[in-house]
Amino acid sequence: MKRVRYVSRFRENMSPAAIQALAREASEFNSGHQITGALLATGQIFFQMIEGPRQEIDALWSRIKADPRHVDVVILSSEEGGLSRLCPDWSMKTIDLSIDASEATLPLRTLIQLIFDQHKIIDSAVEALEKATWNMLLKAELNDMERIAGM
Ligand SMILES: Cc1cc2nc3c(=O)[nH]c(=O)nc-3n(C[C@H](O)[C@H](O)[C@H](O)COP(=O)(O)O)c2cc1C
Repeated sequence: MKRVRYVSRFRENMSPAAIQALAREASEFNSGHQITGALLATGQIFFQMIEGPRQEIDALWSRIKADPRHVDVVILSSEEGGLSRLCPDWSMKTIDLSIDASEATLPLRTLIQLIFDQHKIIDSAVEALEKATWNMLLKAELNDMERIAGM
């Protein structure tokens, strides 16, 4: 068993009908592949949890990641082994929070947005750290080469 959670950003506005069509497509496929989970859409951000056999999840994940309907797909967690399903009865329970933009759903929408923003910041920090590390390593290598060449 494998479980993946991620957030992503809508590439462009999606109507409630488009979200519904996506939910139907997902649910139909998942029910034939032992995949269960939940999908929340805020009108800007998706939050999804998918769970099922590892190979099924890996194959689905490759397709979800490449789906042009969203961008900035960031994994929040990926767990494997000894798991029991959190949503055994949901082939893909979908909640479109953009339909209900009321006070009641505000905390959920805010939380999802916060999680997305936070992860974008961490992603940028990791990228910057990686670049700085590479630069340092390259400089050190260059210094070594200059020393060896007696420059
Ligand atoms: C936010 C989001 C969640 C999705 N969730 C699922 C899902 O749970 N199951 C599924 O079969 N497809 C899901 N899809 C659709 C897949 O990305 C993909 O379009 C579908 O599997 C068909 O892939 P194909 O066109 O490569 O055959 C999702 C797409 C998006 C944008």
